[in-house]
Formats: sequence, structure tokens, C-alpha cells
Amino acid sequence: MSGGPAITLKSQPIDGSNSNSGNAAGQQQQSGNNAAAASSSSSQGSAGNVPPAQEGTRQNSLQRIQQRKQKVFNLPEAQKLAKLSMYSACQAEGCRCTGWKTPQENRHRDVESSYCPELSEECRNASCRHPLRSHISHLTEISRTSMDDLLGAIIDMENLFMSMQRVEDEDTKKVYLYLFRLLRQCVLTRQQAVIRGPLGDPPFESPCITKAVLSLVFYKYNHLNPTELQTMTEVAKTFLNFLNHYNFESPSVRRSDATLTHEDASTYKINYTRWLVFCHVPAFCNSLRQFETSLVFGRTLLRTVFQYMSQQLKKKCISERDRFPEDKRSIITQMPKFLEALRAELLKDDSPIWDSSYRPPNSFVMQQRKRHQEVAPPATISAAAAASAPSSSKRSSVGEPVHKRAKKEPVERAPSENLDDLPTDVVLRAMKSVSESKTTNKAEILFPVNVSRDENVKAEEQKRAIEFHVVGNSLTKPVDKQTILWLLGLQLVFAHQLPEMPREYISQLVFDTKHKTLALIKENQPIGGICFRPFPTQGFTEIVFCAVTMAEQVKGYGTHLMNHLKDYSIQRGIKHLLTFADCDAIGYFKKQGFSKDIKLARPVYAGYIKEYDSATLMHCELHPSIVNTQFIAVIRNQSEILKELIAQRHNEVQKVRPGLTCFKEGLPSIPVESIPGLREIGWKPQMRPVRASRPLEESTDPEKLANSFQSVLQSVRQHATAWPFLRPVTAAEVPDYYDHIKYPMDLKTMGERLKKGYYQTRRLFMADMARIFSNCRFYNSPDTEYYRCANSLERYFQTKMRELGLWDK
Ligand code: COA
Repeated sequence: MSGGPAITLKSQPIDGSNSNSGNAAGQQQQSGNNAAAASSSSSQGSAGNVPPAQEGTRQNSLQRIQQRKQKVFNLPEAQKLAKLSMYSACQAEGCRCTGWKTPQENRHRDVESSYCPELSEECRNASCRHPLRSHISHLTEISRTSMDDLLGAIIDMENLFMSMQRVEDEDTKKVYLYLFRLLRQCVLTRQQAVIRGPLGDPPFESPCITKAVLSLVFYKYNHLNPTELQTMTEVAKTFLNFLNHYNFESPSVRRSDATLTHEDASTYKINYTRWLVFCHVPAFCNSLRQFETSLVFGRTLLRTVFQYMSQQLKKKCISERDRFPEDKRSIITQMPKFLEALRAELLKDDSPIWDSSYRPPNSFVMQQRKRHQEVAPPATISAAAAASAPSSSKRSSVGEPVHKRAKKEPVERAPSENLDDLPTDVVLRAMKSVSESKTTNKAEILFPVNVSRDENVKAEEQKRAIEFHVVGNSLTKPVDKQTILWLLGLQLVFAHQLPEMPREYISQLVFDTKHKTLALIKENQPIGGICFRPFPTQGFTEIVFCAVTMAEQVKGYGTHLMNHLKDYSIQRGIKHLLTFADCDAIGYFKKQGFSKDIKLARPVYAGYIKEYDSATLMHCELHPSIVNTQFIAVIRNQSEILKELIAQRHNEVQKVRPGLTCFKEGLPSIPVESIPGLREIGWKPQMRPVRASRPLEESTDPEKLANSFQSVLQSVRQHATAWPFLRPVTAAEVPDYYDHIKYPMDLKTMGERLKKGYYQTRRLFMADMARIFSNCRFYNSPDTEYYRCANSLERYFQTKMRELGLWDK
């Protein structure tokens, strides 16, 4: 940014108020102090009240951290190694020293400036006394990038240490200490810092705040004209920007807030810790992966901070109004109205914007995305920034080196922001062309040969010609007449369409209070339905009857009913549907995504679901992020866009370019990449295979390999079909097992072998795992559940191995 302190609506995550405090930690290098200031603000609660002038100081703190890192990266290698040695274990046999200590006589000297110790200088640690050389012998071969990564982590660690000294709040101090230890361990073991544990993994709630706020703009303001809509979009982004830079108050400060219930306070404490670990600290410690607050948190966090935060934002709008350029002032004036609308939706329990299945139409999302690229990005909505630096970003503003940025920047994006590797303008062009061809192709409008049945049903639903309702009987609450009439009608539909089922049995289940029925209503008459029983404790729903009246079959109602049931189940946290299908119905269920391959462990459903003779158990796994009632349309749209993209690429490939004349002119050879058109059709220069794409085994890092095996084994153990393989089969359970199986294997034994370091190569690991599955298939017949579990778990194992680059193909 240029031109003095930025006028901004950012809150101040890093206040920098102590940044002039000099060499506070005594023995630490002078440059290590910047971040102490940079990170101390969280102990002081919200920084929205920090005067704007301190924004510059905040930026300065971050810049100084970055400059210090850059300075260290530019040091001669010997000095870099000396710095690393201070946090590296001594390699001398039996020595337990974890970092070389500068000899007494050189204690005042700094390896980050001119001091470069000799390799023979002895460690000051009395129990070590080994030369510097012994602390770095294992580091001399590592690449420059790995060395810089380690040095970056060391600087982050030192900064965290300094922050810890300054911070007063105990909760915050504990988190800093935890992160400090984590980084210390990572430097010692030369591993990437990964945060695991009870905090969970981001995103923590769905929908995230960004998505809900985007939905709010559509939900409340879509009727406005394009200019007004754009203003509201910018208001929303300014709000998100403020939130993403907001300094949350520590739980101890919130404890005095009488509006917080005990439960709110404990939830707040968890969210505060998550925010520190995943959002706040990584802003100045970029060895840790950073996430945007608004992309990983949802309604719960926003509810607890909204009141105070919105007051801060309003105050800021008033105080900075005059510093905004004329054409941006509407953002400021519209802010209170926007905050009021958001507050109302936050309080409403049934607000659609907080419903994860709520989706603004694609055209709106793309429009937003386009604007997002045209307008200044949210992190820089400020008068000065809007005028001078339209494309600067939060990270680049602190001067982060490009190679670092590439690695750390992929902050989790909201689903609607998830761009693929094609440039957005290319995709937008394809989308435009698809939507134009839809409106201009009159023949298709008149004769919609290509429109799926699902589309027709959805159109009927939109016109309210049909409705879907979940109804059920109750013994504790009054049941309205309409529900009773529909239940009676549904009972008749089931009885007609399922003549094999005794009528009394159908009545019994339809009116049973534990069963519910999803009813399809046309002209106030039930014309179809699905009777089901949820088992929330078991995580599945049993489909009992499913039918559509004869006259309405094969119009897509059966499919849409099932999609509604899937969405209904997902919203209630159910991830599995199970049904016993008779042979006539298997085809229908297959088309709805059911399979005979049951991925649920038998103990989960046995004894709960009603078992029918001569019927086949079928299972459908639900994916929580799929909106099933929209799925076909989304896939269809995507496939049209893909076809359009392929057509565009095809046109590019077919272009005829003038031949090469350079050889006639005497050139013996030219670089391949200079041949016209080659790059345009997707050719890329041959590169050395990147390390990650090679099977890990070849990386010769046994520790890394063992960690990867551990992670695979852990995931495999937790899979729903792993239960038959968790422990060795005992002769008491299966007396003849060892007559047939000569080389038994199980996941527990594999865990023990892993601990003992047996798996030196991935082949050994894969061989044991394969043994588990082949033993199972050898001993059991294909129609057994054990056999199915082996197939399912084997596929899962392969997927996990592939994810970690441990599988050949
Ligand atoms: N076997 C094979 N496929 C079947 C089928 C069956 N018994 N019944 C429907 N399908 C197919 C349809 O042909 C269609 O396939 P397509 O899209 O590839 O053409 C797809 O399943 C869904 O069609 P849709 O129009 O959405 O379903 P529907 O409104 O006809 O309702 C049933 C499907 C099964 C609910 C309906 O046919 C019915 O009531 N059948 C009698 C009762 C029954 O058998 N219930 C199931 C067990 S409880």
C-alpha cells in the first residue's frame, strides 16, 4: 500500500503496541521481538478500538517478521546451519542434547548478524560438550528449501516464545505454549507442523459465515437493481473482512458477560482456542497453516461475538466515513441496515441462510465471483487501498516470499469459492455460452427432449402443483385432521402398490408413532410416499414402504421422493439408508444409489431393522455436502459446461498455424516450446517428477514413511467395515481357522509390527494388509458379510494409500 497509513475497516488482529519494546527477552536475538508485539493483542480483547494509526504499526510488525526471515534465508549456509544447530539434536552417540549452545565467550554474539561459529566450537551444555559439527552432521545434505522451511519455523517458534512472555491471559498463554512445543518438536524431527487433537479439524461448522453472508445478500437483496446489489455485496465483504481481522476477546474477559449462558461460555472457549490456533497465530507464524475465520466458523461463533463486534464496526464506520472516497461511502451508510438484517437471521432458528442446503442459484454465485475479481478484494476494502492497490492481499501486503505464499496460502475456501485449475474467465465464458444456447434453442424449449424427468417434477414443485410433507402419528400430541387423512390415503397407496404386504401390517407401521412417512401430495391427495423409521442412535434410517400410484409412475416422482428423503436425513445427521428390497424393487433402488454391498457393520443395524425373507438388504451412503434434490441439475449443468469447455479446446486444437520456416533459414534445432500452438493445446515442458508424486518409499525418509503408515492404519482401523479384522482370530472363536489359514494377519498385529519398525518398505506394509484380505476371502464364502467387509476395506485402504502417494498407480 502506498500513501501513508491506510484507512481501513479492518479490526486490528495484531496491534503492535509493544513493538518498540526492544530486546525484552535478554538472551534472544533482537529481531525476535517483533512478533511478541504482533501477537500480544489477543490477551487484551478486541482491538476494534485501536486507533487507525496503529494499523501501520501492525503492518510494520508483520513486515519486520518477514524481513527477519528473509534476512536469515539470505545468510551464508554456514551461518544458517549454526542457527539450525541451536534447535537440532546432537548426533553423537548416546548424547541427549537437543540444541547446540553458544560457548560462554561468544554468548553475546548473534548468528543472525556477523557471528559464524567454527565447526569445532564446543557446545556449552555441560552434558554435551560436543562440537557444533555433531549438531549439524545430519543437516548438511538437506535442500535449500527444506533448510529455509526449518529456519522459518525456528523464527516462528522464537516469536511465539516472546509472545508467551508478554501475554497475560492464562488461556491464551497455554495455547501459545502448546504451539511453541509443537513447532519445537517439528523442528527437531524435521516435520511439517500439523495440528491434531480434540480441537477438531477446520471447517468447524457448516454453512460457514462466508457462505451464509453470501446467501443473505441473495436472500434479502436480490430484488435490488445491479448497482445497489453490488453495494450490498461490498458491504457484506467489508463485514467479512472485518471479521477476518477481528481480535476475539479471551474467554476470561467474556466470563463477565452476563448475556452468555454457561454453555455459550464453554463453547466460546473452544472456538476461541480454535481461532487462536488456526486463524490468529498462523497470521504471524506462517509455518502453521492459516485459515480464514469466516470460512471455518459458522453461526455458533458469530452469535457469541456479533453484538460487540457489530458495535465496533458501526463505530468504525462513523469515525472513518470522511476518509472514504465519495463513491465508496454507500458501503458505510448501508452497513447498519446490513448488520440489522444479519442479526435478525442469526437469531431466527429457521433462517434459510444458516441451512446448509440453501444455495443461491449458480448464476448469482458466478456473478458474485466475477465481481469479486473485478472489485478490490475484501481484505483491502479501504479508501487508500481501493484507490491504489486493487490486487494486494493480506499475505502479500506483508511481503511474504513467493515460494512461501504458494505453499501456505491455500486457506480453506467456501464451497462456492472452490475454483479449479481453469481460469475463471474461461469457465464463465463456457457458462455464458451454455445458458445462451439454452435460451436460443427454441426447438428444445418447445420439445424438451433432453430435459430429465427430475426437472419436470422440480418445476411442478416450484409451481406448488405438488408438495412434499413428512407426516406421522403421535400419541402425545394432537394430530391434525389433514395428517390423518393423508396417512389414510398413503396407507391405501402402499396397499395397492404392494399387494404382497398384509394390509393390517401396512396400517400398523404407517400409524406407528416411531415411523414417519414422506408424502407426495397432488391436489391435496397423497399420490406417493416413503414410509421410514429413523434410528438416530445408529445413524441410519430404514425405508419400510415406498410407492407411487400407478397412474403417476415413471414420471420422476419416485426419484424425487427419494432425494427429498435423503436431504431430510442428512439434515438430521443420518448418513445411511437401509432397506429390504424385494426382487422387483432392486432395480429402482439401484437407480437411487443403493447397493447390495453393505458398508455398515452388521452390529449397527442387526436387531433394529425388520428383516424380510426373500428380500435383499440394500444400502445407500449419504454424503453430507450433497443436496440430492439439486444433484441431477447440478451434474447436468456441469456436464454441459464441460462439453462446452471441450468444444472450446477442440476449436483451439484444430487451429492451423503457419509452418516453421526456421530450418530452411539454417537453424539446426529450436526449443520444443517455441513451436507455435504447442502450449495452447496443453503441452508442458517435461519436468522432474515432483517428490510428492513419487511413492514415498523412494524418499528414503523412514520416519516419514512410518508416520504415513500410522495414519493409514489408523484410518483403516476406524472404518466401519474394519471390525472383523481388528484383532487376531482366536481358535476359541473359530476352531478350524488355523487349519486353513497358515499365515494369519490382523490390524492389531500390524500396529505392533509398525511400532517395532518392521515396515521398512511400503511393500512389506502392503503385503501384510493384502494378507488380511486374502485370508478372509479364502476362509469365508462370497455371500458372507466378512467377505464383503474385506472387499470394502481393501478399496478404502487403497484410496488412503493413494492419497498419501504410496500407491503405484
Ligand atoms: N425395477 C427397475 N427399475 C424401476 C422399477 C423397478 N421395479 N421401478 C421404477 N424403476 C425405474 C424407472 O424406470 C426409472 O428409471 P429411468 O429413470 O432410468 O427411466 C427409475 O426407476 C425411477 O423412476 P421414477 O419415475 O422416478 O419412479 P416412479 O415414480 O415410477 O416410482 C416406484 C418408482 C418403485 C416407487 C414405483 O414404481 C412403485 O410404486 N412401484 C410399486 C411399489 C414398489 O415396488 N415399491 C418398491 C419397494 S417398497
